[in-house]
Amino acid sequence: MKTERIRGMYDILPDEIGWWRLAEQAMLETARCFNYQEIRFPIVEYTELFVRGMGEATDVVGKEMYTFQDRKGRSLTLRPEGTASVVRAYLNQGWQTQSPFQKLFYIGPMFRYEKPQKGRCRQFHQFGIEALGSLDPSLDAEVISFAWSMMDRLGIGGLWLRLNSIGCAEDRERFKNILRSHFSPSITHMCPDCQRRLDENPLRILDCKEERCQIHIEAAPGSADHLCADCADHFTQVRGMLDALNLNYEIDSRLVRGIDYYTRTVFELMSKDLGSQDTLLGGGRYDGLVETFGGPPIPGLGFAGGFERLVIILQERAHAQLEATRLDLFLATLGEDSRHYAFALAQQLRHRGLSVDIDHRGRALRKQLSLANSLNARHLLVVGEQEAASGTGKIKRMDSGQEIEISLEPNSIVDFIRGGA
Ligand code: HAM
Repeated sequence: MKTERIRGMYDILPDEIGWWRLAEQAMLETARCFNYQEIRFPIVEYTELFVRGMGEATDVVGKEMYTFQDRKGRSLTLRPEGTASVVRAYLNQGWQTQSPFQKLFYIGPMFRYEKPQKGRCRQFHQFGIEALGSLDPSLDAEVISFAWSMMDRLGIGGLWLRLNSIGCAEDRERFKNILRSHFSPSITHMCPDCQRRLDENPLRILDCKEERCQIHIEAAPGSADHLCADCADHFTQVRGMLDALNLNYEIDSRLVRGIDYYTRTVFELMSKDLGSQDTLLGGGRYDGLVETFGGPPIPGLGFAGGFERLVIILQERAHAQLEATRLDLFLATLGEDSRHYAFALAQQLRHRGLSVDIDHRGRALRKQLSLANSLNARHLLVVGEQEAASGTGKIKRMDSGQEIEISLEPNSIVDFIRGGA
C-alpha cells in the first residue's frame, strides 16, 4: 500500500497549526469588522463552471484543473478558486432578484495541478471575499482596504499593492488588438505559450514569466492608457478613494491577472518574503461574470489570498509571536483505584472547561511527571489512594514549584486554576 503524500499536497501538523489559526482568526475578525458574511460551498463543481467562468485560455483551466468523471459520466472538477462558486451560489439562491447586494467571505482548500515550489502547492488554502451588486468605486476601495486591514491586524509589513484597470469588455477587446499589434513583429522570438496566446488571448502574454519574453513584455503598452471615458473615470475615482483612505498603491499598467473574468480594477498585494511566488493575494472586478452564468448584469469584485503564503510571511517575520498552548492541569495517578477516581475527576474538570490530560499507558509516576513537563502543564496533581480517600490533595504550580493543599471537589480545582488563588 502506498502511504506517500500526493506531491504538492501537505499535512498541516500540530506544531504549525498555531500560525494557521492566527491567520484564520485575522480573516474572521476583519470580515466581522467590514461586515462580510461567511459562505461555504462544495469542493467539487461541474467542470463547466470553471471553464466558462475563468476562461478556456487561462492556465488554470487549460492545464491545472483536477478534473474527473463521476459514476454517471459527468465531468466534475476540484475547485481551483472560489469566485465562480460564489457566483453560482448567488444565482442558485436567487439573490440577483431578492437581495442583489451581498458581501461574502470564504476560507478553504483549492486545487491546481501546478509545479510545486515554495508558496505554490497543488492543494492550497485560500481566504477570499466577494462583494456583488455595486459598481461604486467605494466598494473597490473597501475590498482593497479589507486586504490591508487584515495584514495590519497580523502585523505584516513590507507589502506593496499593484493596481491597474483593464477596463470594460469593449476596452479589453480593443486592448487585445493593441497588444496583438505590439507583439506580432516579435512573436517568433517569444515562447511557444506566448505564440499560442497571441491569437487566443494576448492579455495572458503579459503574465508570462519566461525570461526571453520579458523584454517584449516590458515594452508593451499599458491597459490603463486605453480605457473608455467611463472606465477611466471609475479608475480615477477608485484611486481618489484609496488616497483618501491613505492606502498605498503603485500603478502597474501591465497588471492583467491570470483569469479571464476580470474587468476594470485589478490588484495584487505583493511581499518580498515570498521569493518568486511573491503574490500574497490578488483580485479585482468581474462585472460580467454573473451574466456569463446566465444572470442579469450584476457587477462584482473581490480578492483571494493563499494561507500558505501568509504563513510563510508570518513565520519569517518575527512581529507575530505564537503563544505556546498550555495544558491547565496534568493528573498523575498512583495505583489502580485512584486511576478511576482521577479519570472521573478529569471528566468533570473538562466539562467545566479546563484542559486536562492524564496518562493512558500505565506509566510509572516519574514518567508521568516528565509527560506533564513536556505537555507544558500549568499545574500538576498527583492522585493516589490517600487523595482519593480524603478528597484533598496537593496541587503544584509548575512555573514556581509551589505546592498547595486543596479540596479535590471539581469546582474548587476550577476556582483555584482560574483564579490563580
Ligand atoms: P488567483 O490569483 O488565481 O485569484 O489566486 C489568488 C491567490 O491564491 C494567489 O495570490 C495566491 O496567494 C494563492 N494561490 C493561487 N494558486 C496557488 C497555489 N498553487 N499554491 C499556493 N497558493 C496559491 C483567484 O483565485 C481569484 N478567485 C481571486 C478573486 C476573488 N478575484 C476576485 N475575487
